[in-house]
Amino acid sequence: MKANRKKVCVIGGSGFMASLLINKLLQKGYVVNTTVRNPGDPNKISHLLELQSLGNLEIFGADLRVGEDFYAPISGCELVFQFATPANFASDDPENDMIKPAISGVLNVLKACARAKEVKRVILTSSTAAVTINQLNGTDLVMDESNWTDVEYLMTAKPHGWGYPASKALEEKAAWKFAEENHIDLITVIPTLTTGPSITQDIPTSVVLATSLVTGNGFFLKAFKDIQLLSGSISITHVEDICRAHMFLAEKESASGRYIVCAHNTSIPELAKFLRERYPQCQIPTEFDDIPSKAKFVISSDKLVKEGFRFKHGIEEIFEHSLEYLGSKGALIN
Ligand SMILES: NC(=O)c1ccc[n+]([C@@H]2O[C@H](COP(=O)([O-])OP(=O)(O)OC[C@H]3O[C@@H](n4cnc5c(N)ncnc54)[C@H](OP(=O)(O)O)[C@@H]3O)[C@@H](O)[C@H]2O)c1
Repeated sequence: MKANRKKVCVIGGSGFMASLLINKLLQKGYVVNTTVRNPGDPNKISHLLELQSLGNLEIFGADLRVGEDFYAPISGCELVFQFATPANFASDDPENDMIKPAISGVLNVLKACARAKEVKRVILTSSTAAVTINQLNGTDLVMDESNWTDVEYLMTAKPHGWGYPASKALEEKAAWKFAEENHIDLITVIPTLTTGPSITQDIPTSVVLATSLVTGNGFFLKAFKDIQLLSGSISITHVEDICRAHMFLAEKESASGRYIVCAHNTSIPELAKFLRERYPQCQIPTEFDDIPSKAKFVISSDKLVKEGFRFKHGIEEIFEHSLEYLGSKGALIN
């Protein structure tokens, strides 16, 4: 049902989560402006052009490095969703390729929000990578919104994969500082690794990662294991619940602060066991050498649930929908 004509802006609309959120916003009657880096690239916007049949969607070109790019798309919008981030996992220079551009990018977006008087709330997509990485030991820890990734440890020890979590933690911290100083109503949504069907042309990296135990994609399976080695745990959520949580928090007046969105906590060996039982026809690894069978912590979504949010998809559906999607793209080979 189309209930309202509120205007909102989605920054980074070409991406996995953002394009699905735009779909949902249009179906709810929102008028949507969105930004992409290169509106001339059909691979990046053909799925957005298709969404234009659902409602009022305008596409703008904007680069996180250019603050003025965001004035026009944000002007007149009551809500701004900021998804874009310069994730460059292969970088040899995370400081210049990820950390600095993530911080200046989020500040560019927030400055445009502060200038546009109509903006009532900004919803920034952070990551559990900004919450969970530290040097604590144990197996029964609980992580919640009060936890922050230990950036000093990441920047000095530089463990494998340190750049992305450092960039997400510093981006979110910079956003909180700017929002407090400029009286912006900021909410940060903190997703876990996210998977499920995508409307983008290319299969999202996080879907390839999350399904690597089933597909046997060696490069991504190694990267998936590296996530547990760095953080101590694996947590997974369906993309539809991630988008529902963004909308829920944007619309919920009482919401404030950070919100973790996590449907399922596990470890690689535990997840492999679950998948072997569920998909006995697939060749799922049984040996994991240095990967602990028990996760170091669980990450809690209690705050979101207490606010009234209900998850729609558990671990069974998360994998059922992801594998059906990969099959539909001809990318399921195991
Ligand atoms: N997917 C996950 O598992 C996961 C988990 C936790 C948190 N997150 C966070 O959620 C957000 C969305 O993730 P996603 O997986 O949906 O992302 P995605 O599909 O990789 O999309 C990333 C977006 O960032 C944009 N971008 C990158 N550099 C940019 C720049 N310099 N200027 C403007 N836009 C730029 C890209 O724009 P173009 O396409 O136009 O180049 C793209 O739209 C990110 O902030 C990510 O850190 C993701």
